[in-house]
Amino acid sequence: MVTEKKSTVTYRKWDRGAMREFSEEVTIVRMDNDKITYAMGITQEGYLLHCYYGARIGDDDISYLMRLPDHPFTPNGNNRDRLIFMDSRAFEFSCPGTGDYREPCLMVMDEDGMSTCDLRVTGFTVKKGKPALKQKGVSCIPATFASANEAETLTVTLEDSHLSLVVELTYTMFAKLPVITRSARAINKSYSDIRIQRLLSGCVEWDRSDFDFITLNGSWARERAVAREPLHFGKQSVESRRGISSHQHNPFAALVSHDASEEVGEAYGFNLVYSGNFLAQAEVATSGFTRFVMGINPFDFSWLLRPEEDLTAPEMVIVYSDCGIGAMSRTFHDLYRGHLIRGQWRDRMRPVLINNWEGTYFDFDEEKIYQIAKAASEKGIEMLVLDDGWFGKRNYDDCSLGDWVVNENKLHGGLKPLVERINALGMKFGLWFEPEMVSPDSDLYRAHPDWAIQIIGRDMTQAREQYVLDYSNPEVREHVYGMIRAILDSANVEYIKWDMNRALSEVGSTALPRKRQRELWHRYVLGVYELQDRLTTDYPYLLLENCSSGGARFDAGMLYFSPQIWTSDDTDAIERLKIQYGTSICYPASTMGAHVSDCPNHAIGRTTPFATRGDVALMGTFGYELDVTRISEEDRCAIPGQIEKFKKYNPIISAGDQYRLGNLFEDDSYDAWMFVAKDRSEAVFTFVQVLNKPSTPSRRILLRGLDPDRDYRNEDTGEIRSGKTWMKGGVIVGAFGDFVSRTMHFKAV
Ligand code: GLA
Repeated sequence: MVTEKKSTVTYRKWDRGAMREFSEEVTIVRMDNDKITYAMGITQEGYLLHCYYGARIGDDDISYLMRLPDHPFTPNGNNRDRLIFMDSRAFEFSCPGTGDYREPCLMVMDEDGMSTCDLRVTGFTVKKGKPALKQKGVSCIPATFASANEAETLTVTLEDSHLSLVVELTYTMFAKLPVITRSARAINKSYSDIRIQRLLSGCVEWDRSDFDFITLNGSWARERAVAREPLHFGKQSVESRRGISSHQHNPFAALVSHDASEEVGEAYGFNLVYSGNFLAQAEVATSGFTRFVMGINPFDFSWLLRPEEDLTAPEMVIVYSDCGIGAMSRTFHDLYRGHLIRGQWRDRMRPVLINNWEGTYFDFDEEKIYQIAKAASEKGIEMLVLDDGWFGKRNYDDCSLGDWVVNENKLHGGLKPLVERINALGMKFGLWFEPEMVSPDSDLYRAHPDWAIQIIGRDMTQAREQYVLDYSNPEVREHVYGMIRAILDSANVEYIKWDMNRALSEVGSTALPRKRQRELWHRYVLGVYELQDRLTTDYPYLLLENCSSGGARFDAGMLYFSPQIWTSDDTDAIERLKIQYGTSICYPASTMGAHVSDCPNHAIGRTTPFATRGDVALMGTFGYELDVTRISEEDRCAIPGQIEKFKKYNPIISAGDQYRLGNLFEDDSYDAWMFVAKDRSEAVFTFVQVLNKPSTPSRRILLRGLDPDRDYRNEDTGEIRSGKTWMKGGVIVGAFGDFVSRTMHFKAV
């Protein structure tokens, strides 16, 4: 897939009052699979220029795409306008200080206080497969993986010879997917310290700017709302400065052609495999060219690189689609299901769980939990998850985080007897933790006040009456992990919900030296990764669900450790339509924690039919979040039917191709989606009427993704039609009333 070709670019140009001929020896390095081509060129002087990324092109000489002859050509023969060359070329890894005034990927501060960088290629290597990302002293950097026949990895080595700073850029192309992943690693080969002020994961450039910029934004209970804006001169960006990837912006962005819809048009999707501060930025500058950069947010970042030390940037995933935004999403879904998520639960149907949070909040004891479990198990629910409030002396959210010992005033006799009783019902048991936190009112904080993130002498800002533990400190991680282990070893806990409920503030560490304080943002994230890695390695059977006040850390970094993430604290079925739609732009349905909860909904006060709540939750991992002993008999009796539907449809939903058929961001009257099995033998279609409009008694919705030449039976109505007809003629859905849903199951006959 990786090929190298030498070429000579020759042209005539008006120079110093005469036409002169220039020529430049270049090397084109390109990566191709059936679907895409990614190409770069190395100039005679060693600059690494971007050449092309998009649909697969021919094997021709593409050195002309480096656009070297464009005004004014500089390297080598014509040095007099080098600055303009630097500011208008497409670089693979942009550097500041020598004339490129656009966004740099790398910034340093050397011992003389200088920040200029000038990277030139010194060589490259190609390997089969995909080596893990590495950094000295760091045990785990999440990234996609691939076997030797699934991908090929190109590593280009560049060096700033003045600084003796080496930067390795890695590019992986997957054999069967239109995906490139990138990362960068800086290594200090000098004898002095170098301060890295930023190390982004990479940049991609286009000599055009006719794109729309799509981002996923929101707040608590309103995560990942889709925004779409045309690019304009200047910079458009999303970022996090909160220490987590955040509710406000997801580490995702896409550049799509103005005409791009679900089915047509070009889309470049970018996602960072990272769970902390990030930056995703598009910049339209000189000549209307676009540069997109992504990586750890340079805001408040600085990393001291001693001689021979290295720093690795998180992985950036770049997906290309020339069949619209829907195909871009399906590629992300395939990539993450096949090459990011790990562990025993990845491809297995998850147990139908019931979580007691919205059912009881902090008001429970072992008998109440047991009664919920019992009633739930009678209806076919398979796992009880005990949420917040089981530890320390926690009866409200104002204490005890960090004291991971069972509150025996609530759970008399401890965890073991309760879990045994629940197991005896044939149910699994799961438990909530918030391991990164400490309450001021906790034994942990009283014993180790220095273990919280803080700046000595400054007031510490509380959020939900809690502080964040300093996960850069190995002693803290060791201690917390010891407590989690003790609980896991004390009872048969088969699932953990790992929560994280506040952003970081007063970001300082009592354990880091003065010169390394600004590393805390990133070291914190690496600390979380280390602990989740240990947890999932030591307890491989555990089903881990990440969570952060709902979906404030719904990112690819977390998916490396947990196959599912709690999507949002907003469990209202109608709100969830938008949240799950936005989440699906990048992340597969198999990763979305989705529960049927009680009504009126606790986040928004809306009442929706129980059936609709079930149909919407089917688009995710599916479970319940209510006190099953207190809902109506009618709803309780509907549970077995919902679970039957889940068992029937989940294999298609969790492993199939998703097609978004409605878009509430554009039409607030309905939503619809479908999942098609990979072999196109089956499909599940769901429709939700949001606002019933008298003039639209029924709708015709065109199905997608079926085999046009096969016949499909609508299992709910018995109608048989060809895939072509279902896709061009559509299904007619009539729904009377607001918030009513319908599902249909199609099977090839
Ligand atoms: C967060 C989570 C909820 C719940 C509470 C418990 O808000 O998102 O699901 O676990 O914490 O305090």
